[in-house]
Amino acid sequence: MNVQLLLTPHTLERAELEGRTVVVIDVLRSSTSICASLLAGARSVIPTSGPGEAGELRAKLGADSAVLAGERNGVKIENFQYGNSPAEFTPETVGGKNVILCTTNGTSVFGRVARAGLVLSGALVNVSSVAQAIALQKKDTVIVCSGREGGFSIEDTLCGGMLIDVLRQKHGCDLTLNDAGSLARLLYRDRQTSLKEAISQGEHGRFLTALGMSADVDLCSRIDIMPVLPVLKDGCLVKADAV
Ligand code: MLT
Repeated sequence: MNVQLLLTPHTLERAELEGRTVVVIDVLRSSTSICASLLAGARSVIPTSGPGEAGELRAKLGADSAVLAGERNGVKIENFQYGNSPAEFTPETVGGKNVILCTTNGTSVFGRVARAGLVLSGALVNVSSVAQAIALQKKDTVIVCSGREGGFSIEDTLCGGMLIDVLRQKHGCDLTLNDAGSLARLLYRDRQTSLKEAISQGEHGRFLTALGMSADVDLCSRIDIMPVLPVLKDGCLVKADAV
């Protein structure tokens, strides 16, 4: 199986995605919030690329069935009900609802990968669920790290590296990696016993901690605590039992 990891979404438009499995990773925090929402019983999470698009969608779906969540500069968007802290998404807040999610780097990537065969949302909290789906699919896979403000981010790269490592070690997959994939795996293997520290010391970890959100960084750094598989169907992320 060919596995290509993109350290940032920059080259996405040129990437061959047709018929492939694509995993979008934004550990801090949108991928983790997506898992939390679906585990809390949200009907779907709808990723959007801007607050305007999100607001229009809510007007179309109706206030009874949809809630607005998201951030700009880490902070809840004005007039939105929720921010982007995974802990905000509980059965009480989002159970039975469509969560329209708008975040700075993570959610806009989904609109750029819709041509893929299968699109999944991956984080550390569901890394084994995603690895299992990739192993079952046996299709060439593209791992897209959302990164931070156009640049590389350590937490997304660590997560991509762990995904590759689990595919090799646990599922015995025979993988051909691009150099970024090999780099991500080396980084993960170097830091696997101190993931939380590596993430909290990274740029976005420090940024969120300075905003008083270190609990989010801790939660997002935990492995497999949200065993759910978010899959993109008609522009909405829904919970799949298997793919
Ligand atoms: C993003 O998409 O940029 C992130 O999820 C930002 C955050 O809320 O920490």
